[in-house]
Amino acid sequence: MRKLIALPFLVFFTSLFAQDIKIDKGWKFKTGDSPEWSRPTLNDSDWKSIDVGKYWESQGYQGYNGYAWYRIHFIIPSTIKEQAFLKEKIRIDLGKIDDGDEVFLNGFFVGRNAGSNSDITQGPYDATRTYTIPINDRRILWDKENVIAVRVYDGGGDGGMYEGRYGISAADITDYIVINTNDNPFQFADKKVSKKIILQSTSEKYDFTGKLRIEITDPVSGASVFKQTIGTDFAINRPFEYTYKTALPELKSYDINYVFLEDRTKKEIVVKESIPYVLTPVATAAPRINAPGVFGVQPGSPFLFRIPATGEKPLSYEATGLPAGLKLDKSSGIITGSLESKGNFKVKLIVKNKIGSSSKNFTIVCGDNVRLTPALGWNSWNCWGLSVSDEKVRASAKAMLDKLADHGWTYINIDDGWEDKHNEQGQILTNQKFPDMKGLCDYVHSLGLRIGIYSSPGPWTCGHFVGSYKYEEQDAKTYADWGIDYLKYDWCSYGDIAPKQPSLDDFKKPYIVMKEAMRKNKRDILFSLCQYGMGDVWKWGAEIGASSWRTTGDIVDTWTSLSEIGFSQDKSAPYTSPGHFNDPDMLIVGKVGWGPKLHNTRLTPDEQYTHISLWTLLSAPLLIGCDMSQLDEFTLNLLTNDEVLAINQDALAKPAKKIFDKNQVQVWTKELEDGSTAIGIFNLDNKINKQNIDFASLKLSSTLKLRDVWRQKDLGSFTKGYNVSLPAHGVLLLKTASMKR
Ligand code: GAL
Repeated sequence: MRKLIALPFLVFFTSLFAQDIKIDKGWKFKTGDSPEWSRPTLNDSDWKSIDVGKYWESQGYQGYNGYAWYRIHFIIPSTIKEQAFLKEKIRIDLGKIDDGDEVFLNGFFVGRNAGSNSDITQGPYDATRTYTIPINDRRILWDKENVIAVRVYDGGGDGGMYEGRYGISAADITDYIVINTNDNPFQFADKKVSKKIILQSTSEKYDFTGKLRIEITDPVSGASVFKQTIGTDFAINRPFEYTYKTALPELKSYDINYVFLEDRTKKEIVVKESIPYVLTPVATAAPRINAPGVFGVQPGSPFLFRIPATGEKPLSYEATGLPAGLKLDKSSGIITGSLESKGNFKVKLIVKNKIGSSSKNFTIVCGDNVRLTPALGWNSWNCWGLSVSDEKVRASAKAMLDKLADHGWTYINIDDGWEDKHNEQGQILTNQKFPDMKGLCDYVHSLGLRIGIYSSPGPWTCGHFVGSYKYEEQDAKTYADWGIDYLKYDWCSYGDIAPKQPSLDDFKKPYIVMKEAMRKNKRDILFSLCQYGMGDVWKWGAEIGASSWRTTGDIVDTWTSLSEIGFSQDKSAPYTSPGHFNDPDMLIVGKVGWGPKLHNTRLTPDEQYTHISLWTLLSAPLLIGCDMSQLDEFTLNLLTNDEVLAINQDALAKPAKKIFDKNQVQVWTKELEDGSTAIGIFNLDNKINKQNIDFASLKLSSTLKLRDVWRQKDLGSFTKGYNVSLPAHGVLLLKTASMKR
């Protein structure tokens, strides 16, 4: 289980120093615990090899919780010391470790990352581990073999060393230099891309001069497409800002390196990123309704639906065939009211503006299931972590209304960090960051949007806030009174309540208790199970009334995390049905960070297209995990492509199936209500992949009319197969012409 603590944010996390000794490969691993395992002389030849870039769960230690040790042998050359300008400290970078760790160099203690009680069972799992020791310390053996031993404890969920930079370097004045690529987005205008970058010093003592080289290269040919060198001069309160602007030969991603050569040390600091490219066409001025074609509500529950429509404002809304009990506000497009009895109601939604009008059939299904298509919304966790507040939630709701709601986005979900305690009457109270939860819910509803909250069936949440254990009925009532529309219910400390080896019934029990408690109130609350897939939750989530269930541990913004989660979802795919969805965790596009400091997602632009395309095909809830008040043009393009979203919101609610897997190319297909098929062709390779996709191997007819969904462009008719050229970790999302089945 992850226990969370606010962490310092390393702005220079992408920097690379040419002088580093890499220790990212060659690690040995053993579960268990012994003080002997820190000794350099220990014979660890029978220890298993391990990749420190991935959790131990994905490397043969599924479900392992407790202590484990990592060891690595390496030489530290004295050239590191000789080349250092400062000659003060040696820095050991060990990436991120879940939960806590203790580090030993040649048997001597170096440092620990632990919780507030100095116990490594409560480590700040998301903190980047950097340990320093004096350069003349006797623990370092220059030009000889050294051994680092890392003792780790994990309390539950994913565990171990899992991502980051692994190296030994001399801490130097260059550590005070930040190449800030984070504060300003890429901008696209007049067929040119531009971006402002900032060089900053974090030292009171050192000013810097040097040369900044900006190099853009083609990721396929390696050819240089832009190169510029600029003289720079900066100090702590005197940053150096530079905006580059250039046309690029093709509509695709390019690699960019910012290389700063520091005058005094002659050291180079390199920051790399990829230039994004926008595929989604701008929405036209003519009106267009983007609603899902179907919407579920329970009898007697308050109805709230904002008709999502794009087009030049002002828009006016109409609805024919609205059943008794519902009414439409013609200027805002918000439908409210409630339905008394079960039934299917066929409604026609109409939207008009000065250019024209457009209509869409919309079926309201009043029954046992709510919403019916996957939730489209936002959740505070991947950006704000425990620093979420009323103010941030309101800003998010406002941003959703202004930029996303017209495309169907509707949920604003507060994750962990809002809770205080249960009072003497057993009522859950909010902490000082949420002074008026009812007022906040009313505000979100006034925008025509919906609001979600988070709790745990255990006494404590994963962030160590109070959970719902033994207060389920009162909490469910409070949520309904506030006007909550979505509950994420996270196992966390329920692990201490459940038997050590839980049976299937033990896994189900806390969720059934909360569902029953919620049934006592007349309110449609989407019930989102979060227990990381235990007990094959996809096999029983629907039966206990869940709207969605997490199928995995937590996602982070890396390709390893994204691809391991996303491409393993076929096991749970058959269990998706209208109103019941697999949840492979929240989106990691845009500015994320688990709060309070944020960074640009570390996924490349092509990985982000893959992420959205795959989640869309999987019929997964799409929960934006970034700060929506800082949505840049590229991220907006990912989240507002109505043809992509329509695949996710398709009324059939069929999940995609993996139909082809060869030479690092996977093809996933999803049947759609209109008889057409959505096809995602994914390149899992880290280089360009050219292939002929044979229609027969996809079990599709031999002649297909294809449409490129991201570009919203018909490609024509193809017989037998289609040639693709996919960028590294990239995707082509296609749709066949509709054929009523
Ligand atoms: C984790 C959960 C995350 C987030 C966090 C809050 O267990 O998977 O999505 O909710 O707890 O503490």
